[in-house]
Amino acid sequence: MIALTSKDPAHLSTDAIVVGTAPHDGGIRLVDADWLPADLRTALVRDARALGVTGAADEVRRVPAPGISAAVLVLVGLGEGDVTAETLRRAAGAATRELAGVGSLALALPADEVAQAVAVAEGALFGAYAYTRYRTAGPGAPAVPVASLSVVTRGAKDRAAVDGLARAEVLAAAVHATRDLVNTPPNDLYPAAFVTAAQAAARGLRGVKITVLDEKALVAGGYGGLVGVGQGSSRPPRLVKVAYAPARARSRVALVGKGITFDSGGLSLKPSQAMETMKSDMAGAAAVLHTVLAAARLGVPVAVTGWLCLAENMPSGTAQRPSDVITLRGGTTVEVLNTDAEGRLVLADGLVAAVEEKPDLVVDIATLTGAQIVALGDRVAGVMGTDAARAEVVAAAQACGEGFWPMPLPEELEAGLKSKVADLANVAADRAGGMLTAAIFLRRFAGDVPWAHLDIAGPSFNERAEHGYTPKGGTGVGVRTLLALVEARAH
Ligand code: BES
Ligand code: MN
Ligand code: ZN
Repeated sequence: MIALTSKDPAHLSTDAIVVGTAPHDGGIRLVDADWLPADLRTALVRDARALGVTGAADEVRRVPAPGISAAVLVLVGLGEGDVTAETLRRAAGAATRELAGVGSLALALPADEVAQAVAVAEGALFGAYAYTRYRTAGPGAPAVPVASLSVVTRGAKDRAAVDGLARAEVLAAAVHATRDLVNTPPNDLYPAAFVTAAQAAARGLRGVKITVLDEKALVAGGYGGLVGVGQGSSRPPRLVKVAYAPARARSRVALVGKGITFDSGGLSLKPSQAMETMKSDMAGAAAVLHTVLAAARLGVPVAVTGWLCLAENMPSGTAQRPSDVITLRGGTTVEVLNTDAEGRLVLADGLVAAVEEKPDLVVDIATLTGAQIVALGDRVAGVMGTDAARAEVVAAAQACGEGFWPMPLPEELEAGLKSKVADLANVAADRAGGMLTAAIFLRRFAGDVPWAHLDIAGPSFNERAEHGYTPKGGTGVGVRTLLALVEARAH
C-alpha cells in the first residue's frame, strides 16, 4: 500500500521516516529537512562522520529520532550533483530495500513537484520487493518488504499526483511480476508453464486476448527457429501472442520478447558457470508480457501486441546440431553453426509473425549476447535499429530513468553472416562486435517496419550486490522503457 500525504512529517505516525542527505563542505547537509527539530538537525550535521553518514548515493543509515512522531529517522544519500527523478527513485528504493521487515515507512525526500513525488513513489515500490516463492518459514527467512508506504509532498491531493501514483502502482506491479518470472527456476518455468503464467496474469483484464501456438502449430506454420531451438527439450516450444487492442488506437506497436526458459547452449554447450544464470534468458519475453498487461490496465489508447518466443535450449539426441539448416517463418534458411546463438532464431520467427500484421513500430527485447555486457557493462542495455525507432526508445528510456544506450549497425559486419550453404549463418566467425552482428541478423526480419532491438543481457539479471531499487536476481528491466514508449505514442 502506498499513499501521498501533505501532513507535517514531524507528526506522521509511522515506524520510520526517510530524509535525504548530500555531501557538503567535507561533511553533509540535510535536504529539505526544515521540519526536523533544530537541535536534531544540528546534531546530525555535527556528528555525521561518527554516524558514518557521508551523503553518498546508496547510503542508508538509521538513527533515533527524538522530538518527532516516528521513532527512527532514515538518512539516505542523494550523492553529489543535481537531484534528478532517477536520483530520487534510487534513494527511495535503497531505503525501502534496506528497511525490509519494518511495518511502515514515510518518505520525506524532495517532492514538491508532482514528477518528484511520483519518482519517489516509483523508487520506493521498486525497492519493496522480495522473491520468496521457494522460502520455507523459520530462521533465515528473508524480511518482508515494507507493507505501508507514504510519500510526503505538498500536492498530495493534486489530480496529476494522484494519477501518477496510480500509474506508479501499476508499473511497479509489472516490474515485480517480471522479476518473479525471471527468478522462477527453470524446472518450474518452461514454455508451457510460461503460457499458463501469462494466462493467469491476464485473467479478468478487458481488451486483452492471448493466442498460443503449440509445437504442432509451430511446425505447421513454418516457425523453424522456435522448432529448431526447442527440439532438444522434452518440454516443447510455444509462440504466444498477447494482444491489447483498445478502441480508436492512436498507433499500433508490436513487442517481441526472447523467452528461452533455460539456455544450456544446446549441443554447443555452455560451461557450467555460464549456465548458472541462464534461467534469466526469458527476461525479454517477461518484460513484453507485463508491458502489454500494464498498458491494458492503464487503458493506454495504443494497440500493443506482444509476441513471446518461448523455448528451452537443451542438448539431447533430438537437439539441433551445429551445421543443421533450418527454415524460418517466411522462408529464410539459416545454417545453425552455433546452437548457443539461439535467441536470434526464435526472435526471427517472432519478428516475422509480428511484422505480418503491419504494425507502426516493432521492438524486440532480448538477453541476446554476452558481447552486450562486454560493451556496456551490466547496468546499461544496448539499443539498435532503424534511426527513428532507436531514437524513440532511447528517449523513452531517458524519460523513465532506465539505462539504454544507442549502438550502430556497421555495414561491414553483415558479410560475417554469410553461409556456404544457406541464406545466412546464425553466427559470424569473427566475434568482434557480437552484439551488433546479432542485431544485423535480426534486422532483415523486421522488413519495412520501423524497428528497434534492445539487448538486455547484462541489466536483466543482477549477479552483484543490490543497489538503489535494484535487487539481486531479476531486475524487471525494460518494462519501464517499453511502457513509456507505448504511452508516448498515445499523443
Ligand atoms: N543467452 C545468451 C546471451 C547471454 C550471455 C545473456 C550472458 C546473458 C548473460 C545467448 O543465447 C548466447 O549464448 N549468446 C552467445 C552468442 C554467440 C554464440 C554468438 C554469446 O553471447 O556468447
Ligand atoms: Mn545461447
Ligand atoms: Zn540465450
